[in-house]
Amino acid sequence: MLAAVAPALPAPSLIAADVKTGAASEKEKALQSPYANDLGPETIDISKYPKEHQKTYAGALKKCAQCHSLARPLNSQFLELPAAELDAFKKANPDAAKNPFLVQPEDGIWKRYVKRMMAKPGCDIKPEEGKAIYKFLEYDSKTRKTGDHLKSWIEHRQKLLAGFKAKHAARYEEIYGDYQDPSARP
Ligand code: HEC
Repeated sequence: MLAAVAPALPAPSLIAADVKTGAASEKEKALQSPYANDLGPETIDISKYPKEHQKTYAGALKKCAQCHSLARPLNSQFLELPAAELDAFKKANPDAAKNPFLVQPEDGIWKRYVKRMMAKPGCDIKPEEGKAIYKFLEYDSKTRKTGDHLKSWIEHRQKLLAGFKAKHAARYEEIYGDYQDPSARP
């Protein structure tokens, strides 16, 4: 009598409603937990970026604005660098490497975060779109957060963090407050 204990499949309309509820609550979560990133611009100048990345910016990346605005990834401290370049970056920029909330260099960090976002209920980013997105974010973070651009990037993050502290004091303490080196805090 195996058939008798098998649970009935929910009606298709119920499945759709569940997915919707999941996405809506993820959006609520995303908006209830703001980040300093959110206070920055939602667009960037990609006119000098390679064609493939311009295409991702105009297309797949927009799916990252389903639960929070694009300001969240575009003003993020995450800097994706291959392992071989990490030490050189830290040696060349000892001050920048002091505070991970200004710039956080890590191998594979965007790949990991895009996957984390893709696992959230209601996220409809397809695997090939996810790959294009993390490739874009990898290129973009290297372009805007290293070399000649690092100094202005740090100033940008410092402004965002100071504005965030003024606006969301409790949340600021929650996410940035336990940073161990007070001299490096904004
Ligand atoms: C289904 C809803 C949803 C979608 C779609 C989504 N996010 Fe998020 N995102 C969240 C939530 C919720 C948080 C806060 C909690 C967390 O980090 O998991 C968040 C946080 C973030 C953060 C801040 C992480 C940190 O700790 O600093 C970044 C960066 C981010 N998202 C990037 C992206 C990118 C890139 C995409 C597209 C690939 C994306 N998100 C798509 C829901 C979403």
